[in-house]
Amino acid sequence: MLKFNNLSFKEYKQQGKKISMLTAYDYYSASFVEKAGVDTILVGDSLGMVIQGFDTTVGVKLEDIIYHTKCVRNGAKNTFIIADMPFLTYNVSMEESLKNAGRLIQEAGADAVKLEGGIRSLEVIKKLIDLQIPVIGHIGLTPQSINLFGGFKVQAKVEEDIKNLFEDALALEEAGVSAIVLECVPKNVAAIISSKLSIPTIGIGAGSGCDGQVLVYHDMLGITTEFNPKFVKRYSSLADNIVSAIKSFDLEVKNASFPTDSHSFNSENKNLDLEKIFYEVKEN
Ligand code: KIV
Repeated sequence: MLKFNNLSFKEYKQQGKKISMLTAYDYYSASFVEKAGVDTILVGDSLGMVIQGFDTTVGVKLEDIIYHTKCVRNGAKNTFIIADMPFLTYNVSMEESLKNAGRLIQEAGADAVKLEGGIRSLEVIKKLIDLQIPVIGHIGLTPQSINLFGGFKVQAKVEEDIKNLFEDALALEEAGVSAIVLECVPKNVAAIISSKLSIPTIGIGAGSGCDGQVLVYHDMLGITTEFNPKFVKRYSSLADNIVSAIKSFDLEVKNASFPTDSHSFNSENKNLDLEKIFYEVKEN
């Protein structure tokens, strides 16, 4: 059974325990997240934006997620890790989809994979679960569909779209996914889905009615400053701290106040005439 902190996703929900999820992409971010006691880590394809600096997630490759998941596993040996399947690494052919998901588990060390899409991804999701690979669903604003959506916009605002979202959520639950990420949907819509499903929903921009919440590491720590959607809460302003520390370094190098003796090493014999030794070496 799917476990983290000795409880499965469903058990967390049954016990009314909220699930915390944060993204991480490298050894130190993962070790901080684990140390803080967050329930689960997502190696999200958001790395395309916050690590690689692209405007969207569509350019992320399977190899990128494999590389970063390995780093995260090294930093968080005891945390449940979910790896995102990037755009076009699933749903194109069944064989490729299964092989790619298998690599994320076997080679990269993830515990589960996350796929975007409800009914449109169902065939692959069912097959993965048959093969004993835990799957997390992701519906609402699915960033890999950005070129169809025409931008990062709140989804399921009108009745027809709400019905489609309900159908997707029900189909994912029926298929056996462990949890569903609900991204950027109205809070009352997310709350209804959360109250009707037996599996947990993990919200991002989906209100407090979800069974858990996920944020992107760089956003919640205030490393990203140009990205300011309403749903992000900044728990720190690291960008300011980082720039100010780097400015101090730059200044101290330029005015020669760094390094001091306390940052420097001595040779074993302080009485050596180093200038003499240097010229001897040079003349030989
Ligand atoms: O890629 C990601 O980080 C995600 C979360 C925003 C849910 O999918």
